[in-house]
Amino acid sequence: MNDDLLQQSLDSLRHATSEDELAGWYRDVLGRKGTLSEAMRTLGSLTPDERRERGRQLNEVKTQLEAAFTARQDEVRAAALDARLGAESVDVTLPGRRHPVGNLHPITAMIREACDIFAHLGFQTVEGPEVEYALYSFDMLNIPQDHPARDVWDTIFINSNEKEITLRPHTSPMQIRTMLKQDPPVRVVVPGRTYRYEAQDATHEWHFHQIEGLAVDRHITMADLRGTLAEFARQIFGPERKVRFRCDYFPFVEPGVDMSIDCPFCKGKGCRTCKGSGWIEILGAGMVHPNVLRNVGYDPDVYSGWAFGMGVDRLVMLRYNVQDLRSFYANDLRFLAQFDRARM
Ligand code: DAH
Repeated sequence: MNDDLLQQSLDSLRHATSEDELAGWYRDVLGRKGTLSEAMRTLGSLTPDERRERGRQLNEVKTQLEAAFTARQDEVRAAALDARLGAESVDVTLPGRRHPVGNLHPITAMIREACDIFAHLGFQTVEGPEVEYALYSFDMLNIPQDHPARDVWDTIFINSNEKEITLRPHTSPMQIRTMLKQDPPVRVVVPGRTYRYEAQDATHEWHFHQIEGLAVDRHITMADLRGTLAEFARQIFGPERKVRFRCDYFPFVEPGVDMSIDCPFCKGKGCRTCKGSGWIEILGAGMVHPNVLRNVGYDPDVYSGWAFGMGVDRLVMLRYNVQDLRSFYANDLRFLAQFDRARM
């Protein structure tokens, strides 16, 4: 009978797997109305000898059951803790989740790279307003009002009647602003946005980017122009690049030239990109016109200089073989993410 009670109770204790079940077991077995208390209550009907013997047995059972209960309680709690830790665990060996990071727009990247190259050649980078006086966009650059060359720059005017204020059609007005502000020597490059009243297609946009360059000092010659621009072309398009200069006309330089590089795609043999010629024109340049120097108060008998202007969008198209200029402004991340320097 005692053994039965002990065995049964120990068995049912083993089936308790939670705090609730443990509490239930305790109530049923060791509680005030539990089986053990009930057994104790029968002691009164026994003879004194029997009672002593039976009482001693029951107390022993109670001690054992209490010890078993504490041990089982420890087991159940340890198992519960294990389960919780297992559920909350973090696998620290898993690779982290990558957060998408933006990259520079290819045109911004090219501007920075170009200005950096010129910085190493002694040129400071300056920027100017995109809304610009026609006086600086044209007049002081030796393009008077009735000059036919004005039509070359299909200009967007802010006040179309007076034609006094432009969205600058080129970065050249910054030549004027720079020279008005300082005395020679001048060595600046000017990156920035430019605007033209133009129909859009794969190679034309109504807004684009240029980098202007200007060097003025005593004894500046065309050889300096050639050396500087050839060095630039080689750093951007490869050290084996050849450069070619030809006569060209821009009202603010004399003589004026344009510079081409041998086609980086066919190495000068002739292909679609260079339209079979083997050469690709990348910029206009020339010796600053004496009139321009005079306009800003520099003495053309003492100072000479050269200037250049190039289209940044075109440089990027050439370097990465981009076919449509409009992709630069379409904001399609699939296109733009290709220029992530981290992945290039
Ligand atoms: N401003 C000219 C254009 O937009 C480019 C240019 C040509 C700039 C010759 C110059 C230069 O500084 O000397 O077409």
